[in-house]
Amino acid sequence: MKKPTLRVKRAPVLETEITVPGDKSISHRAIMFAALSNGVCKITNFLEGEDCLSTAAAFRQLGVTIEHPEPGTMVVYGTRGQFTAPDQPIDCGNSGTTMRLMSGILAAQPFTTTLIGDASLMSRPMRRVVEPLTQMGARIRTEGANGTPPLVIEGGPLKAITYKTPVASAQVKSAILLAGLYAGGVTTVVEPAASRNHTERMLEYFLVKLRCQQAKPMVGGGPRESRISMLGRQQIESRDFSVPGDISSAAFWLVAAAAQPGSRLLIKNVGLNPTRTGVIGVLIRMGARIREVVEVVDQGEPCGIIDIKGSRLRGTIIEGAEIPNVIDEIPILAVALAEGETIIRDARELRVKESDRIAAIAANLRAMGAEVEEFDDGMKIIGGRKLKGAKLPSQGDHRIAMAFAIAGLHASGETVIEDTDCVQTSYPGFEKTLAKVLKGNRLLQRNTPVISNLGTRPARRGKKSAKS
Ligand code: S3P
Repeated sequence: MKKPTLRVKRAPVLETEITVPGDKSISHRAIMFAALSNGVCKITNFLEGEDCLSTAAAFRQLGVTIEHPEPGTMVVYGTRGQFTAPDQPIDCGNSGTTMRLMSGILAAQPFTTTLIGDASLMSRPMRRVVEPLTQMGARIRTEGANGTPPLVIEGGPLKAITYKTPVASAQVKSAILLAGLYAGGVTTVVEPAASRNHTERMLEYFLVKLRCQQAKPMVGGGPRESRISMLGRQQIESRDFSVPGDISSAAFWLVAAAAQPGSRLLIKNVGLNPTRTGVIGVLIRMGARIREVVEVVDQGEPCGIIDIKGSRLRGTIIEGAEIPNVIDEIPILAVALAEGETIIRDARELRVKESDRIAAIAANLRAMGAEVEEFDDGMKIIGGRKLKGAKLPSQGDHRIAMAFAIAGLHASGETVIEDTDCVQTSYPGFEKTLAKVLKGNRLLQRNTPVISNLGTRPARRGKKSAKS
């Protein structure tokens, strides 16, 4: 069967307002915490991308009832953390988050589970979760070469540990905290720099108590060590939850508009958790005119509006403690068409994402006529040359496919991205928004409140929603 492609031409100035689908990281966690809870939770604006549907399917296999009454709504019947043994391996599809976070929960179950995935996931490193979970007492092994899946988890009683992660990773931190929910005593995760904190914020929203500490930055900068502690055996309370829009999906349009003088874009109902908004900070450093306004924080996750005006961007350096905050946005930042040099360092993790993203970005940018120097842990992109349209492989990686579709909006001629099924992983609807942008729809409503007015609206805090 012929694989789908995306065809993109130079776009007119962008002048529109959009929303983006629900956040991927948060949608995964919403299903997980609801399944672990003591009652019924209704999740709205759930991302119906393939990754999050893999998490829902995994819990159904573990005996959890999950209804899907309408698009974007999932009703989960929590089972208080007790699941039934699946009768076959759980297929996590393309989703590293499903495999790594579920391993923390499965490590505590009184049965054996095997986790598998697609070709990309079967080549991704799993020792990073095997190591801490083994220290907690789990019997867990990788059956692939060099610590890759299948992941076989013989669950059992767990003990609390203090674990220092070598690399900041929200997936590893979350796997340990999820296992820690089943362990007696206090589980502590120490990270060299803070990774996204959805697990902590959402656990608190679901009424689990945690202690989060962030070290003060060292004199002269340096990494900010982060430490999370949690007493085990706390019950997750069932609550309804609405997922904010995904800033990683918004990032494609943010860059598309920010890099084109004359553009104006408004993105509404988007998650603005500071551990995810690094992309905005980087773009501002590159000279972009962007403002964000948090409108609500009532479910622990800040959510609001981003307003972008296009301008010429200049290169910057992205490195160090900033990397975990922009790790998923590096493919799109790399195609931002900045003048001068853009240098990305300390991002070796990109080599073990859904594809080797450093190699994929460098190869595609070169095919479009850009000058790129590749490093083991990043790259240097020398700006100034106009991009030209090209035929580009997606490597089966959703973020590579979408980043280069956006690059095509600014390139001469036609850009064809091959094998774009993968976009469904995180952004169903991407193609529709792309078509809107390509048509040059001027949809920005003149009566849309501008950011300077929005700034005066107070953010609501800490309201408990009705328990179902
Ligand atoms: C995620 C964490 C990040 C990110 C991934 C989603 C999560 O991975 O790249 O897309 O939901 O916890 P790492 O934790 O491996 O950095």
